[in-house]
Amino acid sequence: MDRRRGGETVDRLMAQMTLAEKIGQLNLLAAGEGLVTGAATATPLAKRLDAGQVGAIFGTKSLASARGLQDRALAGSRLKIPLFFAEDVIHGHRTVFPLPIALAASWDMALIEATAGFAAAEASAEGLHQVYAPMIDVSRDARWGRMAESPGEDPHLAGAIAAAMTRGLQGDDPAGPGRVAACLKHFVAYGAPLSGRDYDNASLAWEDLLEIYLPPFAQGVAAGAVSVMAAFNAVNKLPMHAHEPLIEGWLRGQTGFDGLVVSDYTGIRELTAHGLGSPATVVLRALAAGIDMDMVGEDYLTHLPALAEAGLDAPEAGLSVPAERVRALIDRACARVLGFKARLGLLDDPWRKLTGTPAAPDRAEGRALARKAAARSAVLLKNDGLLPLDPGARVALIGPLARDRANMLGTWAVSGRAADVTPLFEAMTAIAGHPPAHAPGCNLVEEDWLIDRLNVHGVTVTRDPRPEAEMLAEAVAVAQAADIVVVALGEAKEHAGESSSRLCPDLPAPQRRLLDALAATGTPLVVAVFAGRALALGGVDGRCGALLYAWHGGIAGPEGVADLIFGRAEPSGRLPVTLPAAPGQTPVCHAEDPTGRPWTGRFVKFRTGWLDLSGDRQPYPFGFGLSYTEVDYAPPRLSATDAGPEDRVRLSVTLTNTGPRPATETVQVYLSDPEARITRPARHLVAFRQVDLAPGEARELVFEIGADLARYPLAPSLETARWVRDPGRIVLHVGPNSRDTRPVELTWRA
Ligand code: BGC
Repeated sequence: MDRRRGGETVDRLMAQMTLAEKIGQLNLLAAGEGLVTGAATATPLAKRLDAGQVGAIFGTKSLASARGLQDRALAGSRLKIPLFFAEDVIHGHRTVFPLPIALAASWDMALIEATAGFAAAEASAEGLHQVYAPMIDVSRDARWGRMAESPGEDPHLAGAIAAAMTRGLQGDDPAGPGRVAACLKHFVAYGAPLSGRDYDNASLAWEDLLEIYLPPFAQGVAAGAVSVMAAFNAVNKLPMHAHEPLIEGWLRGQTGFDGLVVSDYTGIRELTAHGLGSPATVVLRALAAGIDMDMVGEDYLTHLPALAEAGLDAPEAGLSVPAERVRALIDRACARVLGFKARLGLLDDPWRKLTGTPAAPDRAEGRALARKAAARSAVLLKNDGLLPLDPGARVALIGPLARDRANMLGTWAVSGRAADVTPLFEAMTAIAGHPPAHAPGCNLVEEDWLIDRLNVHGVTVTRDPRPEAEMLAEAVAVAQAADIVVVALGEAKEHAGESSSRLCPDLPAPQRRLLDALAATGTPLVVAVFAGRALALGGVDGRCGALLYAWHGGIAGPEGVADLIFGRAEPSGRLPVTLPAAPGQTPVCHAEDPTGRPWTGRFVKFRTGWLDLSGDRQPYPFGFGLSYTEVDYAPPRLSATDAGPEDRVRLSVTLTNTGPRPATETVQVYLSDPEARITRPARHLVAFRQVDLAPGEARELVFEIGADLARYPLAPSLETARWVRDPGRIVLHVGPNSRDTRPVELTWRA
């Protein structure tokens, strides 16, 4: 891509464009229905295209549709400025991979990059130039349904994923063959809504914003991401679509980001509901904040012409903006839109990605990658030696998700097809060579109103009309006749997703009753949980001999699970979120700040904990996951225990696979700073590495540690924030998860 030439073209176009043409470029519309290859004439979208009032379109469903729209846009544009096309490609396009939260559980950046690369190639072959991914909102609250799309609770892991996804989507050049522009979203702290309610606001310490929620965006930008989407929520009282200090200030001012910022769906007009002023006022606030394109609301299109003529005097919003300044802001946004088009190669060739017969990637390869990704995403939480199963055993498969297709895709799989999913029943049959005995056992949920809500994007949940007692009796009989039962439980795909927050993130009641009934048979149970969030599994592990957290794994999700169950793949997933022990424990994460009265591991009055939560508070901590083998960690060693500020210290640990099967082990390093100026997390992830170990193999891993790892922000306000490091003692914790670690201490001098 020739950036310089792009820049010249942008300047030339800007010099020729009318105000109306510039405003038209800021309008981002949904493809909707009815305008394919120019056939429809009078749809609202067609009228806009004819009038040169559209900058980009998202949600086209085919190359033909994109071509038709481009044709029409070019005809309606005096200066022949092309559209670009975008889509929500969140975890695969046609080939649906495991949910992002599931892929995060792989901790395998090469794999994540490969899935993003495949998705980009499929999207690009359909004439898409930009995808609304990666979603990199750190999420610590299992009530929030969009945890499904998130990279989990930890900023270090999320940052690595942001970079891997960006590399996979864009390669070296977002305009290159088979590549698309990444769009980091949702900027920022969308994953920290009050009470876990989607769209709700985030009030947090600026330190937390700087250390937890912003770093993944910095990583995505550093990896080259060329666009960003704003979040619906407010951060510390200022809605993100009007957050000039964070968008123009931090994002553009401090990370070096020079790409395009788009609104979220009607996010600009929603500023009025947030209480930020009249429709015209909020348009100006969004534009000034640095939102370059207006998705769907058409509020820029409606209000900017008058604002550009007369400016705005809105004392109630503390705004007095002369017309000249409005025109300068419109120019700024338009130049960014055109700059983005130049980067995508569209100003050189408006038909880029739209002509010829673009080579779509091989779907069989994609399916194999999806299957591998599913196996690597599932997390083995418990195994009393039941797994892997002998394909010859008398196995029953019971549960409402045993034969499911559609829910396996997971949320935000807008271009996926349920028909492409191989259900667990078929996947197990294919490996064992004969079908397992089967009964559904119960309905996924029991409430009719809930079924309606879960079916909002198409029917994925149906009701078995039989009485529950009859279904349970059938399942019990099937279980009694089997040597072992695999129980497929969990959530529907729209249980977790946008606007799908749950008060009580646990297994639905009929499924818990089924589990009780099956446990009472005495037949050993292997429970597989298919879900879009970190469900509280209290009571489940006590009723089964093996527990596999399988998430919603995409088109080959159940096949990946079957591979694990029968030992054709080795479990290596590690939790990217802490599983709450009880729903009321959310939000929860491994990196909580210590209190003056820390939890002691058992109930003692006047301690930080819950009166009514008995037992282990964190049975399944962040980073946790089992293998079919044992990996021994020797005590970690440091090359020095006293270091100067510029020194690099080597932290080494030797691992030995002492079991009979191969392992993929994820070694995790956590840091705590027990004596600091402010309260620091009890521990937080600072490094990890994944290593393959053959049976009997030992390997030494070395981590280079610098004092910069112990830096943290002090931020009475965003503007006065500074990063500091306290000289003195720090502790590094090394182990297979955030709990089962061994410490080493060192002193870092000033
Ligand atoms: C979501 C975004 C998505 C957009 C376009 C919004 O409702 O919050 O994540 O990219 O719709 O589909």
